[in-house]
Amino acid sequence: MTTKQEILQRYEAFARWYDLAELLPEVLGLRSLRQRLLGRASGAVLEVAVGTGRNLPYYPQSCQLTAVDLSPAMLTIARKRATKLGLPVSFETMDVEKLAFPDQTFDTVVDTLGLCTFPDPVAALREMARVCRPDGRLLLLEHGRSDREMLGRWQDRRADRHAKRLGCRWNREPLDLVRQAGLKVLAAEQTLFGIFHLLEATPGEPGPVT
Ligand SMILES: C[S@@+](CC[C@H](N)C(=O)[O-])C[C@H]1O[C@@H](n2cnc3c(N)ncnc32)[C@H](O)[C@@H]1O
Repeated sequence: MTTKQEILQRYEAFARWYDLAELLPEVLGLRSLRQRLLGRASGAVLEVAVGTGRNLPYYPQSCQLTAVDLSPAMLTIARKRATKLGLPVSFETMDVEKLAFPDQTFDTVVDTLGLCTFPDPVAALREMARVCRPDGRLLLLEHGRSDREMLGRWQDRRADRHAKRLGCRWNREPLDLVRQAGLKVLAAEQTLFGIFHLLEATPGEPGPVT
């Protein structure tokens, strides 16, 4: 498994190339998925693993934004993006598994393209649920194993090599992870060759997993 330290080192080095590397997927559909997801955000919003801040342009103006990431280099780019957009965002360097916020602080908690990278994605989701109000929303845009069998098997075969290179485990099952974390799924959509997931969930009740 890739450790947090290794992930941090990777993103510190990759930060200045990240937006360039993301250009093609953004144009091919990721950008419109971001727009659709973030249109549903409201109130006090926490975005975890904010990266270079690619979601920032798509939040409704009424949102109060807090954003965290493990990598200071990624956050430096996100800060510049927020300044350019004229958005007041409170940025902090923070591990998603140890969020320094009290329980039930946020109306909306957002993660995009993070579950593939976190060493323990279920622990991360539980921590995101902890800081979300009981009637709040967790909004996720994640990529995972395609439901097109041939493509899914191809991802499986290359998963170790891909993870070693980029620290990204691209054959995880985001919906299963959300359920394992005990969240209540309100909406789930799989798109773009069955690779991308748009998920909306609430922290859910303790007890049986939905
Ligand atoms: C693939 S990038 C996604 C960035 C952004 N959310 C987006 O949609 O473009 C993954 C991000 O997760 C961050 N990250 C990885 N592990 C983390 C952790 N344990 N806590 C917080 N951020 C983490 C990385 O630094 C990186 O910025």
